[in-house]
Amino acid sequence: MPSMLKIALPALAAASTAYAASCSTSATKTIQNAGDATALAGCETFTGSIAIATSTTEDIALNGVQKIVGDLIATNNSDIKQISGDSLTQLDGEMHLDGLTSLYALNFPALKSVDTITWNALPNLQDLGFGSEVESANKIDIQNTGLRSLAGINVEEADSIEISNNGYINEIKLQLGNVSTKLTLATNNEAVIVELPFLIWASNLTFISCASVSVPSLETLNGSLGLYENGFESFVAPNLTSVGDALVIVDNEKLSNLSFPLLTKVSGNLKIANNPELAEIDGFPELASIGGAFDMAGNFTSVETPALDTLKGAFNLQSSENVNETCAFYEGLRDEKAIRGKYECKGRLIDPGEEGHKGTSKGNDPEGAASSLSAVNGALGLAAVAAVLLF
Ligand SMILES: *[C@@H]1O[C@H](CO)[C@@H](O)[C@H](O)[C@H]1NC(C)=O
Ligand SMILES: *[C@@H]1O[C@H](CO)[C@@H](O)[C@H](O)[C@H]1NC(C)=O
Ligand SMILES: *[C@@H]1O[C@H](CO)[C@@H](O)[C@H](O)[C@H]1NC(C)=O
Ligand SMILES: *[C@@H]1O[C@H](CO)[C@@H](O)[C@H](O)[C@H]1NC(C)=O
Ligand SMILES: *[C@@H]1O[C@H](CO)[C@@H](O)[C@H](O)[C@H]1NC(C)=O
Ligand SMILES: *[C@@H]1O[C@H](CO)[C@@H](O)[C@H](O)[C@H]1NC(C)=O
Ligand SMILES: *[C@@H]1O[C@H](CO)[C@@H](O)[C@H](O)[C@H]1NC(C)=O
Ligand SMILES: *[C@@H]1O[C@H](CO)[C@@H](O)[C@H](O)[C@H]1NC(C)=O
Repeated sequence: MPSMLKIALPALAAASTAYAASCSTSATKTIQNAGDATALAGCETFTGSIAIATSTTEDIALNGVQKIVGDLIATNNSDIKQISGDSLTQLDGEMHLDGLTSLYALNFPALKSVDTITWNALPNLQDLGFGSEVESANKIDIQNTGLRSLAGINVEEADSIEISNNGYINEIKLQLGNVSTKLTLATNNEAVIVELPFLIWASNLTFISCASVSVPSLETLNGSLGLYENGFESFVAPNLTSVGDALVIVDNEKLSNLSFPLLTKVSGNLKIANNPELAEIDGFPELASIGGAFDMAGNFTSVETPALDTLKGAFNLQSSENVNETCAFYEGLRDEKAIRGKYECKGRLIDPGEEGHKGTSKGNDPEGAASSLSAVNGALGLAAVAAVLLF
């Protein structure tokens, strides 16, 4: 008996490995052609990752598979045109698609849940065939695609979302209630309309080159809010009460109205610079406390923060216009010791700038001012880029 067992056990082990290999793998299962994909049809659940080979030219249909406990990867393939799966509802790992320059169809009509979506360089992918809508995803990173909309992805909560450099997306509407690490919407179609009607809290929220942004329910930001190079005239955060880090509003060409009616606290810097049409800053009626610097540069005639009683960092306000009344108000706060740090408040400058920048007085040195103006624009550009990289 013992000797027979010794022979039988390895044979059994070999048989079970062979069976398991069809629906699971400890390494990555690489699919070379349509036949390899069809061979998985009997696997309701596939355990392990599936990669589509870079040399595959055929359409890949992972039909029959309902769940993948692993990743689905296709990268650096300039020939593949279609990837689909008629039954896939759940992908526990990452859907990583990168550098698929011919891909025009991605059809997963039953897909509801994905852990991570990472898509990059899919220039021919215009629409998603995600019939039932992905409602659950932790991380979404979609960049450099030809997508016209995000129809098919509508998550309620996420850890992080970045939708950037998709030149054709002109509408982003998500039922998101919260995003725990970051939400970045940057340089998509400049006509993009962003609507986040249910977003209540988020950490870092960054909008770059958006035509409009609506966040009617937003109450709390645990991190920063950044608005850069947007096309809107007005930005309103009607329900926002606190910002856990910085509030930065820079390089918005048409912005003329800012409204934060309930905002009481900004824990980091409050920075508003280079928004040429912003003539009056009066949208912070309740703002009482700023944990970082107060830094404003622009063409405004007045800045009003009537409730301000605590500023921990430096105070810098520079304008091309006469801001004598505004400066008189903040000098009063300085006398009351509400402002204790470095203080600069100046109007009628040719060259109003950010904190640390010495504005040039009108008429004093026009040539020097003109040359330093371009230097400032460069610095502002860099600051914006640095901020973008940071968020
Ligand atoms: C894809 O190609 C890029 C650039 O040629 C290369 O850096 C990257 O490592 C490749 N990725 C894979 C998964 O082969
Ligand atoms: C996040 O938002 C979702 C959808 O609105 C909600 O169900 C969930 O309770 C929220 N979680 C937290 C921690 O606020
Ligand atoms: C952010 O703030 C909200 C509301 O105060 C809180 O419920 C949430 O847990 C915070 N999230 C993080 C990631 O700190
Ligand atoms: C604004 O906040 C209040 C208080 O938390 C809440 O009752 C109200 O529904 C919010 N408004 C919107 C539009 O979400
Ligand atoms: C916001 O982004 C900054 C810079 O990347 C990071 O240090 C910080 O942790 C983020 N905040 C949150 C709440 O995630
Ligand atoms: C700015 O926006 C707020 C909120 O929408 C609005 O009440 C206010 O009238 C606007 N102000 C100007 C000058 O357009
Ligand atoms: C002030 O307005 C002029 C003319 O519109 C513009 O060129 C300049 O960039 C603005 N400066 C700031 C700091 O917004
Ligand atoms: C503004 O204040 C400065 C310094 O106090 C003063 O020299 C200047 O005349 C004032 N300008 C106007 C227009 O009130």
